[in-house]
Amino acid sequence: MRNRFKGKDYLAFKDMTKEEIEFITDLSLDFKRKWVAREPHEYFKGQVWAGLFEKNSTRTRNALERAAADLGIKIVYLRPDEMQMTRGEPLKDTARILDRYFDGLFIRTFGHEVVEECSKWMENPVINGLTALEHPTQGIADLMTIKEKFGKYEGLKICYSGNLYNVAYTTMIFCATLGIDLSIACPKGLEPDAEILVETQNRAKISGAKIEFTQDFDMALKDADIVYGMSQYSMGQSDEEIEYLKKAFAPYQITMDAMRKAKPEAIFMHCLPAHRGEEVTDEVMECSQSVIFDEGENRMHSIKAILAAVAN
Ligand code: CP
Repeated sequence: MRNRFKGKDYLAFKDMTKEEIEFITDLSLDFKRKWVAREPHEYFKGQVWAGLFEKNSTRTRNALERAAADLGIKIVYLRPDEMQMTRGEPLKDTARILDRYFDGLFIRTFGHEVVEECSKWMENPVINGLTALEHPTQGIADLMTIKEKFGKYEGLKICYSGNLYNVAYTTMIFCATLGIDLSIACPKGLEPDAEILVETQNRAKISGAKIEFTQDFDMALKDADIVYGMSQYSMGQSDEEIEYLKKAFAPYQITMDAMRKAKPEAIFMHCLPAHRGEEVTDEVMECSQSVIFDEGENRMHSIKAILAAVAN
């Protein structure tokens, strides 16, 4: 049953079971098959959802618009700076009003507490389109891509190079849940979110996944099936922080030389947008091992599956 989580929120991998993560990933692959076969799937014709974006987006916003259109759902795109939110109207009031007009809320914002607050005040489903803590729609697209390329999760190894932030945290949780080894190459002094770390460690004990943080990039790359690049800094960080992170991450740039230290058949993934010449070279982005556009396309199929899974 596709809307198996009918009416539920979709906020973070840290709150999801292994079975829930796998169900949504498999549903996404099924929607991709339907897309390729041009099978109509307007299952939710007549629904209208709000798409509230506090930050810019190329993939998430457009993937949402297309996925929703295919399901028969209309998206009303909202910017907080065009609403009374920026005048100080409490979020709990905004959330309850949006709940009266729309069948669901897809939201990209800064603090994770914002999506949790919306969830608290809304009856209709809330989907997290990115917060500082997690990027769970990206996580499903990444798992789809991994399953398409390798046909399995368990026993694989990811070498991750990039800032310890939302995508890193979602990746930590899915690796620990599904038995994928994860070696995060990062400079000394960077600490992951404490709650995510504990949740990751607890899940890794069950799955047997090896999750490590290392300053040794070569060690992280050794035997990697997937080299995952991520921006060295995040939207909203100060110029000083960005300068510091760029310098600290310079030794962890993904070059063709770095790719050669992973397995010969290793793939390169990146959630995009990439800063070519910073975390990754142009050559790697364009090389035959790069699957970034398959991964980007999968954002659309996965958002479709998430909408379908939770829609009323
Ligand atoms: N990966 C991702 O979230 O891309 P956008 O910021 O373009 O949505």
